[in-house]
Amino acid sequence: MKIGVFDSGVGGLTVLRALLPRIANAEYLYLGDTARLPYGSKSQTTIARYAVSSSQFLIDQGCEFLVIACNTASALALEEIRQTAEPHGIPVVGVIGPGAAAAAAGTATRDALVVATSATVQSHAYAAACQRLGLRSLEKACPLLVPLVEEGWIDHAVTAEVVRLYLSELHQQAAEACLQPDTIVLGCTHYPLLRPVIEAAVAKLWPGAPPRVIDSAEATANEVERQLAAHTVVKNATTTHLSPPTSFFATDSVAKFCQLGTRFLGQPIGEVKLVDLGG
Ligand code: DGL
Repeated sequence: MKIGVFDSGVGGLTVLRALLPRIANAEYLYLGDTARLPYGSKSQTTIARYAVSSSQFLIDQGCEFLVIACNTASALALEEIRQTAEPHGIPVVGVIGPGAAAAAAGTATRDALVVATSATVQSHAYAAACQRLGLRSLEKACPLLVPLVEEGWIDHAVTAEVVRLYLSELHQQAAEACLQPDTIVLGCTHYPLLRPVIEAAVAKLWPGAPPRVIDSAEATANEVERQLAAHTVVKNATTTHLSPPTSFFATDSVAKFCQLGTRFLGQPIGEVKLVDLGG
């Protein structure tokens, strides 16, 4: 089984990282469309065009299963990607449904918060997915977080302050909407890297009963594992190296992909091939 994992950049490596120990008997192809990142500030038409050409690349490489690890592409282009993949019999899993399902599974109050890129929030894809599962939700765009993570400012005081400001606004908006959130979904591939910073801010804003932080990367890997259960023969949650064969592709600097990607994947990245998908 060749599994293609696609993201606008390196953030989707958090999904690959979650997949590798769960489905270790697959071959992985990861594409980061780094030349056209960020998707999160672009229009639906542009995001769909980029996402479809990226998915087509993975299909051309022989992928038999597609994981859309990018929240923005999942929110705005999943239908177009499916129309591209399904004639080839290729199943497509995005991150929004699994993220919302994980929120629904963990909430007692049925009120959830979602932090994501501007495009994802404007699409209200998370709100719709939450509503289908009987949850009220409040979405918050946090556009500065992707560039801060891209800059490698993970443990930086500026990042902690930006996170605090976004979450303070969200806290106030939730109170105004009379929500009692006990769950906050990280609706962007980059945010899991900021999880400790986000959890620290959440603990201060909601002392006593801080909302539980949900990582859509973990939830997505669980969904892929569920769909591929028949193919799963090796499970080793303690795997610390890339045991399944994995090929990496990027549309911009392979050196930057290797350097930043190592933080997202949690282990060194081998060879990265440069591909040109056009503009
Ligand atoms: N991968 C995007 C997401 O998960 C974040 C980066 C971008 O804006 O392209 O929404």
